[in-house]
Amino acid sequence: MSINFSVIKQRRQQLLNAIKQTYPQKSGLILLFASFEPGRTRFRQDSSFYYYTGLEEPGVVLALDFSGETVLYVPAYGDARTKWVSSDVYTASKENLSAWGIDRIEKLGAACKGYEFSCLFSAQEYEQLIQLIQKNIAQDKTIFTIQPVANQIDQKLILEKLYTFVPGLTKHIQDIAPLVARARRVKSQAEIEALYAAVDCTMSAQEAASQLIKPDKFEYQVQAGIEFIFTESGARAAFPSIVGSGKQGTILHYKTNNNILKKGDLVVVDIGAELDYYCADITRTYPVSGMFTKRQRELYTLVLETQEYIADLAKPGMWLSNKTEPEQSLYHLAKKFLDKTGYGNYFTHGIGHYLGLDVHDVGDYSEPLQEGDVITIEPGIYIPEERLGIRIEDDYWIVKDGVMCLSQELPKEPELIEAMMAGVTDDDGE
Ligand code: GLY
Ligand code: MN
Repeated sequence: MSINFSVIKQRRQQLLNAIKQTYPQKSGLILLFASFEPGRTRFRQDSSFYYYTGLEEPGVVLALDFSGETVLYVPAYGDARTKWVSSDVYTASKENLSAWGIDRIEKLGAACKGYEFSCLFSAQEYEQLIQLIQKNIAQDKTIFTIQPVANQIDQKLILEKLYTFVPGLTKHIQDIAPLVARARRVKSQAEIEALYAAVDCTMSAQEAASQLIKPDKFEYQVQAGIEFIFTESGARAAFPSIVGSGKQGTILHYKTNNNILKKGDLVVVDIGAELDYYCADITRTYPVSGMFTKRQRELYTLVLETQEYIADLAKPGMWLSNKTEPEQSLYHLAKKFLDKTGYGNYFTHGIGHYLGLDVHDVGDYSEPLQEGDVITIEPGIYIPEERLGIRIEDDYWIVKDGVMCLSQELPKEPELIEAMMAGVTDDDGE
């Protein structure tokens, strides 16, 4: 996907406007930090950094002054970088900086050791940026940045280092995570198209999985077929692929995938491609034998009915979960629906989450749904003593008065699941 930098510049302008409107008494500098290279695994840019810069470069920092001046700070790599990692020191070249909305590029600080820049950087390696921060706080200005959440270890480390290097910084920091989340939550048409591309790839991978599932195969063999499709499409797994058979299907984030598929068991396949940074998240549950038993079909149908019931109710104004408004809360309505049949207690997780640049995307769960949100709806029933886990998950775009299912082409009626496993498609016999 080619990145539309005029859209990205517009996002930064909207962020600046939102900050000015929310904090009219304050002024200063917005700092956005890229992720670092993880060493042995492939680099993945921080989602918010990507949203506001389109840059895939690790270790860099974007400084956006209230005056509008935009400077990209980059690690001062030596020659080893080009030999080991990449011939580009940064994705934006000096020639196209203005198209990217960047006024200049500066070094973060002194020359860094080795060919990678680590989140354990020294004060010298960050010296220039530290001076910029010091200059701002000496003028009683504010540093606006995103306070990381628990699993953003890199981002946490950067801030903790800066607090040590710049005494008094904590008093000048303003968290803009809620403003960023509000912006990222509502998807544009182009973002919906990007999400659909990830969904489409994931649907193909589910179809491949449905045909690979056979008694006596290992779960990881099914995983291999899924991730072959992802890789072949230029995508990667948005999260560790879950292929959980029998009792493993009742472990919500099972990821070892090292058990043998047994005839008579079900297998939960919960997977998502990440394509051009946008994530899908789709779950199907298959009978290993290719045919549901009577009991499995009964519970499968109940989960499917729950999902359909909730998808019919989802629209702007409803909540994903709100215990003070249970009649407007998709989670509580799903639980009540399952409670009526005696299976409510076997539904042991939330009804869904926001989806976007992160698989569990940013978005305030204490606010109702709004037009432009993309969510999952994923009811499930888990009965370990019966070796039975069932989850059905699809991806939905919240529109004016309801939802559009982005993954609706992927079969989910029990008969259609069986037909897909047998390799029978809609076109057969026509
Ligand atoms: N599909 C994994 C999850 O939603 O947590
Ligand atoms: Mn999910």
